[in-house]
Amino acid sequence: MDTSLLNREVVPFVLMLLLLVVATLAGDYALHALDLVWVGRYLGIPGTLLILFSFGYSLRKRRLIRSGNPRKLLTLHETFTLLGALMVLIHAGIHFNAILPWLALVAMLLNVFSGLIGKFLLDRSRRHVAERRQTYSLKGMAKDEMEKELFWDAVTYELMAKWRAVHFPITLVFVALGLGHIVSIFLFWNWQ
Ligand code: HEM
Repeated sequence: MDTSLLNREVVPFVLMLLLLVVATLAGDYALHALDLVWVGRYLGIPGTLLILFSFGYSLRKRRLIRSGNPRKLLTLHETFTLLGALMVLIHAGIHFNAILPWLALVAMLLNVFSGLIGKFLLDRSRRHVAERRQTYSLKGMAKDEMEKELFWDAVTYELMAKWRAVHFPITLVFVALGLGHIVSIFLFWNWQ
């Protein structure tokens, strides 16, 4: 594996996941140490809200809203889902009461995992587009060389489309399970 791939994609990916795990453990530990375990129970609400707000990017992309810089909204999507996921993870803690919330949590983690993969695929796509532009501006370049560049472009975009076909259904499963968990909390609210 070449070192630029390792440094640019693999290391940040692993670091990001590690950071999420460490922040979750630290958050959970702090709440227990400060005797604030009850805070964790409510952290699910701002966490869910952050994830919901993050869908602004999707609304913008699908022209359901017309304002907002798409690039900034995508950065917000990434930041809000990571922060939201952290809150939901602390909220879940190590308490096991029912299977549904844990299924929702697994779906969320799969979403975060695939989201991070998408982020690095997109960065790679962007780099290829930049390369293509440069290629165009380079006069006298051999045609087959240019064809090769364009081919890689197409492959990267195709990869992105394939990735989307995975990330989107996982989101639907996560939303369904998350909603199921939220509805069941409201149904049983007065019983406790
Ligand atoms: C709870 C977790 C997450 C959920 C539910 C979620 C959901 C989604 C959805 C529904 C889309 C499709 C937008 C559209 O085409 O309309 C999307 C795109 C995307 N997400 Fe996530 N996501 C999550 C976490 C993440 C994370 C953690 C990252 C990266 C740090 C990320 C990066 C991306 C990227 C790069 C795109 C592609 C943008 C594009 O192709 O237009 N996502 N996400």
